[in-house]
Amino acid sequence: MTLLDGKQTSETIQEEIAREVEAIRAKGGKVPHLAAVLVGNDGGSVTYVNNKVLACERIGFGSTLIRYEDTITEEELLAKIDELNNDDMVDGFIVQLPLPKHINTERVIESIDPKKDVDGFHPTNVGRMVAGLNAYLPATPAGILQLLKRYEIDTDGKHCVVIGRSNIVGSPMSILMAKAAYPGNSTVTLCHRNTVDLPYYTRQADIIITAVGRPGLITEDMVKEGAVVIDVGTTRVPDASRKSGYRLRGDVDFDAVAPKCSYITPVPGGVGPLTIAMLMTNTLRAAKKEVY
Ligand code: GUN
Repeated sequence: MTLLDGKQTSETIQEEIAREVEAIRAKGGKVPHLAAVLVGNDGGSVTYVNNKVLACERIGFGSTLIRYEDTITEEELLAKIDELNNDDMVDGFIVQLPLPKHINTERVIESIDPKKDVDGFHPTNVGRMVAGLNAYLPATPAGILQLLKRYEIDTDGKHCVVIGRSNIVGSPMSILMAKAAYPGNSTVTLCHRNTVDLPYYTRQADIIITAVGRPGLITEDMVKEGAVVIDVGTTRVPDASRKSGYRLRGDVDFDAVAPKCSYITPVPGGVGPLTIAMLMTNTLRAAKKEVY
């Protein structure tokens, strides 16, 4: 069994980007600039956004963090997005999700200029991805493709079972794994909460990618010998022995499942760290005008 080290892979990708940024700077060019909009004080979101800004600083990007109370109106938020769309300093920006209930998330995402949508959430980028055109890929699926590629895992003709159909992970992942490209060329089954007899599908899987957020969902009896298991779940569970009061758990019963796998991601330290590396990759591509 080989552990897929997302932390190390993320660091390697960020070092590669930092070298490119240094080369841009040495030639007197404009370094990439990422802006992040954060509404409210949700613990997870604050941590994620702070980590994104720290990553920018580490690799030499410019960054702007824009924070609002969760009482901000939709109009105020849309006005800021309009400003960012038209700010030549900003190559790409993200609006951290989830947003408060009184704000229409779809309207917010659609108001982002697809050229600056480094999250890859805008319908134009989703559509371009589905059509096989150049697009910003959402960070988590793109990070998983990088893991598969850098560990040279064979995906050609394999049966890949994706669990969870979110717009951010499961749905795009299922599409990308089916594409005629490497990593991809897989036969894909997309399972979700309405799937009858989930184990029937997972037992046939050469590759399992689970993005549900239910600790212990994938047990040892559900996994074929030699399978590749990618765990996107990150659920905070109470843990009094930790300073934070919680620890992260994936969807996979790791201790029981790992010995059966050819490759498996740990939680934490698997897929999670890669999302930042892929956001930085998209921001660099935005600055280099590689997509549009
Ligand atoms: N919330 C959870 N994941 C993400 C992400 O990748 N981007 C944004 N903007 N919000 C998120």
